[in-house]
Amino acid sequence: MKGIILSGGTGTRMSPCTKVTNKHLLPIYSKPMIYYPLETLVNAGIKEILIVTGGNSPGDFLKLLGNGKEFGLKEIHYTYQEGAGGIAEALGLAEDFADNGKVAVILGDNIFEGSVKSAVKDFMDQPMGAKLFLKRVTDPERFGVAEIRGKKIVGIEEKPKKPKSQYAVTGLYMYDEKVFDVIKTLKPSRRGELEITDVNNFYIKQGTATFESVKGFWSDAGTFESLLRASNLVAKKASQSS
Ligand code: DAU
Repeated sequence: MKGIILSGGTGTRMSPCTKVTNKHLLPIYSKPMIYYPLETLVNAGIKEILIVTGGNSPGDFLKLLGNGKEFGLKEIHYTYQEGAGGIAEALGLAEDFADNGKVAVILGDNIFEGSVKSAVKDFMDQPMGAKLFLKRVTDPERFGVAEIRGKKIVGIEEKPKKPKSQYAVTGLYMYDEKVFDVIKTLKPSRRGELEITDVNNFYIKQGTATFESVKGFWSDAGTFESLLRASNLVAKKASQSS
C-alpha cells in the first residue's frame, strides 16, 4: 500500500510562525513535525510515499528530507497544493500517484505514539472501503466526531458545537481506490473546504468503513496549544525510554 502525507494548507492558525516557514517544519520536541507522520508510515512498512506540501517554504521539505534515505526510503514523491482548499482537495492531488491502489493517508500535523503496522495489514485484507482511527478526547468539538449507536458508527460531524460522543476521528485514514471518485463529487463546506469528513461519511453510508481505536497517545499539532501538548507528550516518552 502507498502512503500519502498531507502537509498542504497555509497554516494561518499558527501565524506569525508560518509567515516565514511551513507549519509542518516547526519542531515538535527534538524533530520537525513532518518527521512524525513520515515515521508512522515508514514504521508500518510503507515504502512508497507522496508528500503534498503547500503554503510557505515548500522547497525546504526537499532540503530536509531529500529522497528519504535517512528513513530507509529509495525516494520520496512531492506535489504542491495551491491555497487551502481542504484536506480532501489535497488528497485529490494524489490520484496519479495512487495508481488505482489502496492508500494510507496521514495528516502532516498528526502525532501517533503507537505502530499502525497491523492496521495496514488488516486494511490490505479488507475487500473494499475505508478504515478510520478513533481516539477518546476531552475536547471533541475541535475535531471530526463519531456518532455512535450501539456498536456502530452512524456518522461523523466536523467540529460540532454539541459533540455526540467523545471520540475524535484522527488524521489517519485508509481508503480503497474509489476515494478519488468520491472526492470529485464533493462540494465545498461552509468554511470553503473539501472536507475529509464528507469522504468518510460516504464510506460510512455505504457500510464499508471499519474503525479502530488508536493505541498510545495521539495529538494534532495545528494550534499553539496542541503543538505544546504534542511536544510534551513526545518529550515525556523520550525521557521514559532514555
Ligand atoms: O487532526 C484531526 C482532524 O483534522 C480531524 O478530526 C478533522 O476531521 C479534520 O478535518 C482535521 O481537522 P483540522 O481543522 O484540525 O485540520 P487542519 O485544517 O488543521 O489541517 C490538518 C492538516 O491537513 C494540515 O496540517 C495539513 C493538511 N491540509 C489541510 C488543509 C486545510 C492540507 O494538506 N490541505 C488543506 O487545504
